[in-house]
Amino acid sequence: MSSATAIAHPNIALVKYWGKANTEYNIPATPSLSIALSALTTETTVSENDSDQVVINGLLVADKKINLWLERLRQEIELPSLTITSESNFPVSAGLASSASGFAALTEAISSAFDLGWDIKQKTDWARRGSASAARSVTGAWSTLVPLASDHPTIDSCDTTQIHDESYWDLAVVVAITDDTPKLFSSTIGMELSRATSDYYSSWVSSTHRDFTSALNAVAQKDFQTLAEIADFSCRKMHALMLSSIPAMMYWNSTTLDCIQVIKKLIAQKLPVFFTIDAGPQVKTICPPDLTDTVLERLAQVSGVKKLLQSKIGGGARSI
Ligand code: PMV
Repeated sequence: MSSATAIAHPNIALVKYWGKANTEYNIPATPSLSIALSALTTETTVSENDSDQVVINGLLVADKKINLWLERLRQEIELPSLTITSESNFPVSAGLASSASGFAALTEAISSAFDLGWDIKQKTDWARRGSASAARSVTGAWSTLVPLASDHPTIDSCDTTQIHDESYWDLAVVVAITDDTPKLFSSTIGMELSRATSDYYSSWVSSTHRDFTSALNAVAQKDFQTLAEIADFSCRKMHALMLSSIPAMMYWNSTTLDCIQVIKKLIAQKLPVFFTIDAGPQVKTICPPDLTDTVLERLAQVSGVKKLLQSKIGGGARSI
């Protein structure tokens, strides 16, 4: 009986992806840049069984995304029925990129259990078909996800690269959990709404290409200030795009705003710190490690914060 276990970390984008150029192969419309979070993990085991079963954090679930992914994979390779068991040490479906770590760990585990011999390109392509940002969790650390221009896109019309490993730049991330219930709009639905209805969509796509190039330069020079400005801008533009969609998507709550005010005060004191927020109400703060205690202490004073997590930059998905 074939079986294998893999772990992967979620990642947070400093230059965001929001919107798809191709839905069949899940190719983003924008390039993106991310860091993986070492302290947050998803561990996934796949094993042969009589029928498909998906168990996430101890609950048997009917996960449409995983089922569709398996259906597509079985169009390409022969696979038996599987039990997929996945455990995350952080809230899932709440804007903490659990689908990224989930599909990265699942891809790695399937590749290993059935000796598929996939190289990193095949792993990132298949993880991306489950959740585009999952490709960046396969490579981990500092990763880019870049759509490749093509009139006839295929599964490999996208590049995922680890541009630096986890030891490149010692930064810390503090995550303020302000609500751990599942989000209202899945990112797949939300992105399609933005593409179809927002007047800002085309400028979002073109300006993100510019932000991406500037961010790569800032990372190459370890220029924290410039990276902070670009990440802040990319995050605000993505949420403005969400708000300008019909219906409007508002992922923040009042505690999210209170956390933003706390970080803005630290920035006003000229401290090297910035925040970013994804499709959920959690606030992720990035700073040099020696500022972590200050950030933790200030965010702990925000009354609606349910939990604070701290992390360093983590590596890619791996079999264990
Ligand atoms: O990979 P998805 O479909 O879950 O989309 C992720 C979108 C954001 O997290 C909001 C941004 C990003 O680049 O990770």
